[in-house]
Amino acid sequence: MAAIDVKELYKTYKGADEPTLKGLSFSFREGSISGLLGPNGAGKTTTISILCGLVRGDSGDVLINGLRQDGAHREAIKRMVGIVPQRIALYPQLSALENLTYFGNLYGFKGKELKTKILDMLERFGLEKSVNKEIYKYSGGMKRRANIIAAALHQPTLLVLDEPTAGVDVQSRSVILQFLRDYNSQGNSILYTSHLLEEAQSLCDDVVIMDEGRMVIQGNPTDLIAALPDCRNLEDVFLHYTGYALRD
Ligand SMILES: Nc1ncnc2c1ncn2[C@@H]1O[C@H](COP(=O)(O)OP(=O)(O)OP(=O)(O)O)[C@@H](O)[C@H]1O
Ligand SMILES: [Mg+2]
Repeated sequence: MAAIDVKELYKTYKGADEPTLKGLSFSFREGSISGLLGPNGAGKTTTISILCGLVRGDSGDVLINGLRQDGAHREAIKRMVGIVPQRIALYPQLSALENLTYFGNLYGFKGKELKTKILDMLERFGLEKSVNKEIYKYSGGMKRRANIIAAALHQPTLLVLDEPTAGVDVQSRSVILQFLRDYNSQGNSILYTSHLLEEAQSLCDDVVIMDEGRMVIQGNPTDLIAALPDCRNLEDVFLHYTGYALRD
């Protein structure tokens, strides 16, 4: 079964001259680490927001683990999916423990069990010394790590991350990527976006390159590279399909 199935998805934001998504279609299989790649403004965040039910598409079909994302399965999909937004979605005045307790409560976890889970995750992400520190005192990399915990706390079978490694140092990136590999090896599906194509090449089983609201090409990074004699890596492949023109 596909973890994510997107068919002919269209979306025009209110007041926009042009559609952001123009018949986007792709599919990612269950248990894969998949990458949604594309230049600035390609529509990656919009696509992810529709997948997770935060924004409505105008037309087309989105299925998550076989369930249609149309309202009827909202609760079931909420349990299955964890979303790590591009912007940090934590309360700056609350500590990591307070933030994560809040998010855990939203999913029905509480008490000692939740606290143990949170402390385990904080340790895993190297934040055990900052459990009670307010988020506004965290560095950028620490905030990114805490943001991922908030989305993964309820053990979603599909974890969706929008640029989880943007702007973080080498150490934070390494912890984040190791977590994603481990989480995937437990049988969970992962969809992530990034502008770091070397990272995507080594992490992803499958990538979709999208541009201007449409899918340009999909495949395994190694196969995509092998198919183009002039391309040595995923960045070459990306430039081959999306060109050198700058985007607004
Ligand atoms: N809430 C909104 N209202 C109006 N237009 C929007 C809104 N959100 C995004 N857009 C427009 O939709 C297009 C795609 O934006 P989106 O954020 O989905 O792209 P992206 O691929 O995630 O880009 P980036 O790599 O910069 O994060 C852009 O032209 C953007 O200006
Ligand atoms: Mg984006």
